[in-house]
Amino acid sequence: MSGPNTNYDPVEVAALEPAAVDAAVAHALRAIAAVSSLEGLKAARIAHQGEKSPLALANREIGALPPSAKAEAGKRVGQARGRVGQAIAARQAQLEAERDSRILVEERVDVTVPTLRRPLGARHPIELVAQRLADSFVGMGWEVAEGPELEAEWLNFDALNLGPDHPARQMQDTFFLDPVDSGLVLRTHTSPVQIRTMLEKEPPIYVVAPGKVFRTDELDATHTPVFHQIECLAIDAGLTMAHLRGAIDAFVQIMFGAGTRTRVRASYFPFTEPSMETDFVCFACHGAGSIDAGGSAVQCRTCGGSGWIELGGSGMVNRKVLRACGIDPEVYSGFAFGLGIERALMLRHGVQGMHEMVEGDVRFSQQFGMEV
Ligand code: PHE
Repeated sequence: MSGPNTNYDPVEVAALEPAAVDAAVAHALRAIAAVSSLEGLKAARIAHQGEKSPLALANREIGALPPSAKAEAGKRVGQARGRVGQAIAARQAQLEAERDSRILVEERVDVTVPTLRRPLGARHPIELVAQRLADSFVGMGWEVAEGPELEAEWLNFDALNLGPDHPARQMQDTFFLDPVDSGLVLRTHTSPVQIRTMLEKEPPIYVVAPGKVFRTDELDATHTPVFHQIECLAIDAGLTMAHLRGAIDAFVQIMFGAGTRTRVRASYFPFTEPSMETDFVCFACHGAGSIDAGGSAVQCRTCGGSGWIELGGSGMVNRKVLRACGIDPEVYSGFAFGLGIERALMLRHGVQGMHEMVEGDVRFSQQFGMEV
């Protein structure tokens, strides 16, 4: 409450005079108009609307006026503060609108700029098939075995009963390594993994060995110098050809579907005795050799009319090989089989030529699924 104004100060009261109030307003409006940023406006608001601004100070003086003068002074100062307040609000709205439109420009996102995101690759179908077959065998308790692609000639041939003069040794179109007496070759099949496994492990042995192999073939529709095989080897007490047939059946059914029948034909491999060539019933004509094409039977193109498709080589592990690996053939016997993955894949998925398989075009791989 303000009491009677005993210490009357004429200087202070001058602040309430119309000229002074108008001058304070004019000063404030100029300052507000001059600011060019929201920060600047904040400072102007403190200076012209804050507690220590001339108009706020003038307002405080009203209480000390005689009652007759209070109303008029109050009205004048109130209106003046109102004008300044409106000017600040208007400038604030203006500056905010400017800022917003500036942000829209400065922080604009060009959605058409190419991104760094790369399309997801796809695992090669050869890899997928090898993995699926190996996984299925792992599920039956077998282990995955591996060997080097650059292999000792001895393991690739000699230990497999393919002696230096063996005709089959010449038949395998081998890449030898310089110098020839290095004793190294690019492995021509996955069978040396059999030897490595038998030298390393004690029976019982159940391994599946997928991998790259090499032969001096030109790349054409059905050949490639680098291809893939998958090989199975089992050594245990009392294994017979019945077990071999069972394992092959399991393998074929994983690859070509449940119920796929197999047959074996006599063949020859130095490291198996007896040796067999395995065929499975054609998945396209189911063994009929022909396919119904709108009422008339046409020869099945998948198997060439025989009803059977050749899978790969197999046999009971030769006793000489067992002995060379320190396994007693009187106690243990075993079987092995191996096949080319490219061929199986071409058959299974109707891949037209080897080129598609080796070119590495992701569009080819993507057709087999996007598993990574
Ligand atoms: N290694 C033989 C080949 O490449 C295939 C095979 C494997 C045969 C295992 C018998 C046993 O032709």
